[in-house]
Amino acid sequence: MFYVHVLYCPNKPCFVSCIRDKRGINGVASSNLMATNKREVKESYDNLGARLYDLRYEEEQGEKYETVLAEVEVKEHEIILDNGCGTGLLFEYLSTTAVGLDISSSLLSKALTRIQDVDDKHLIQGDAENLPLRDHVFSRVFAITLIQNTPNTARTLEEISRVGYRGTIVVVTALKKAFSEEAFRHIIESAGYMIMNLINDEKLSDIIAILSLKIS
Ligand SMILES: C[S@@+](CC[C@H](N)C(=O)[O-])C[C@H]1O[C@@H](n2cnc3c(N)ncnc32)[C@H](O)[C@@H]1O
Repeated sequence: MFYVHVLYCPNKPCFVSCIRDKRGINGVASSNLMATNKREVKESYDNLGARLYDLRYEEEQGEKYETVLAEVEVKEHEIILDNGCGTGLLFEYLSTTAVGLDISSSLLSKALTRIQDVDDKHLIQGDAENLPLRDHVFSRVFAITLIQNTPNTARTLEEISRVGYRGTIVVVTALKKAFSEEAFRHIIESAGYMIMNLINDEKLSDIIAILSLKIS
């Protein structure tokens, strides 16, 4: 069972509403790249550890952020959710208010050290399928290399749309090892998003979808 734990929020926990859902973690054995068990996913990132995560993935993730941020404008007043923020690598690229949410305590500990000297970045430990966040708060939501880890992808996308509003730009990326472009498109469209741009660059390990919300 996961609980909301605001790790760092100097300006009051204004994004957090309540514990939305305490349903347990399902106990199905994991099989391949697509996760089926959130507890195992959490443990695998906790066991990998932040140092190794950054060593292995910092450069690879950085290339994705650069591609995304060349397409998505982030203005000063934007409030950003980095869903599945890991060690907070994306924070280094953002100069506006941002909340990072992740399930892994170990990766979040590293993210916490990254934001020690800033007051516009906040961290929450939580589950992307049950975001402990108010409705209609964020003008940009990034979910970079997250959805292969959430067993219920439709629920993850539904939660993203709940915390955004009409006009919110959502960026979801899908590991090519886990999703074909066709399957990824289908998932996004079934979740009711409008695809503004789909980037399938051979240099990147993810397909990047830049999306807008239809909801009010
Ligand atoms: C491949 S990493 C990507 C991390 C980060 N977005 C980056 O660009 O480095 C996937 C992240 O999703 C997190 N994660 C997995 N399942 C999650 C869930 N159900 N809710 C929130 N975060 C989750 C993991 O802990 C991990 O930090």
